[in-house]
Amino acid sequence: MKKKSGVGVIGTGKFLPTRVLTNSDLEKMVDTSDEWIITRTGIKERRIAGEGIATAFMGSEAAKKALEKANLSAVDIDLIITATITPDMQFPSTACLIQSRLGASKAVAFDISAACSGYIFAMAVAYEFIKSGLYRNALIIGAEKMSSITDWNDRNTCVLFGDGAGASVLSKVDRGGILSVYMGSDGRNAPMLEVPGGGSLRPSTHETIDEKLHYVKMSGQELFKEAVRLMAEAGNKALALSGLRCSDISLVIPHQANVRILWAVAKKMNLPREKVYLNIDRYGNMSAASTAVALAEAQEEGRIKKGDIIILDAFGAGLTWGAIVMEW
Ligand code: UT7
Repeated sequence: MKKKSGVGVIGTGKFLPTRVLTNSDLEKMVDTSDEWIITRTGIKERRIAGEGIATAFMGSEAAKKALEKANLSAVDIDLIITATITPDMQFPSTACLIQSRLGASKAVAFDISAACSGYIFAMAVAYEFIKSGLYRNALIIGAEKMSSITDWNDRNTCVLFGDGAGASVLSKVDRGGILSVYMGSDGRNAPMLEVPGGGSLRPSTHETIDEKLHYVKMSGQELFKEAVRLMAEAGNKALALSGLRCSDISLVIPHQANVRILWAVAKKMNLPREKVYLNIDRYGNMSAASTAVALAEAQEEGRIKKGDIIILDAFGAGLTWGAIVMEW
């Protein structure tokens, strides 16, 4: 049985920096090959933000486009949530910096930290606030400058990440909208993916920098298994909560960490590969921005039509995972 929640996405936008870093560029930087990167991850190229371009700038550019599509101006927004693990600075929040860039003077703004699942967690929070009647129009943003926390000498990680931002406006809708939300976390596996230095536990010192603790550290193989298991679990649980079946889904908009993860998830969920939206080949893993950009692009490309049932599905550091089923 489909429940009409009455809260949906009314506009999406994206921003990708213009500089493209290809696999053959990376071949000149570390001991890797185009063939290895494509067959193991599905990535061909990624975007890199230049010096002086950071997360708040990219997030606000994506937000401007989402507002335009939603036919709203910045002062109509009363809630801004930014999902990021690469904030411009430790504080203030990137959401407040974006609020200022947009001139969204009536909005309350804050960040959430849920790594690659951040955009889905932000959507879940905004959904509840709008449903409760506390806020009317929410802007949710997934924005990352992953290149700022990437060790460009580590071939295990540097081939994976890219920079970018995606944004969505959520509001009350007459029909369709969000049908179900499912989220999970498991802090026991936090060490699988982390930036160990620069926080209150190990504040930046010459030593932490020498030890490269300000860069992403990842246990790739262990994460891979958890990503497959938990993205499939999240997708299936959200689907069960919505009362719909696999065959009702038109498109899955997943977090883009590795094409092999996505094929394995599709298999576990009994979904044909054509129903999985992919843009990892062009952008790599943009953490919280991946799902946000994928939704904006799928819409731009006409892959989502009015009345379609779609699932957003993500997994990331924390560990965190989550899925949202919506009728477009
Ligand atoms: O965003 C959400 C969280 N992220 C994820 O969920 C990512 C999950 N993990 C993965 O996507 C994959 O584990 C990776 C893409 C990171 C790695 O792929 P893999 O198939 O698991 O490779 P591996 O780590 O088992 O390494 C296989 C071999 C190793 O060499 P040996 O020990 O077999 O001689 C690595 O040293 O590949 C080597 N290798 C590379 N070779 C060329 C690792 N990175 C590279 C590279 N180029 N860039």
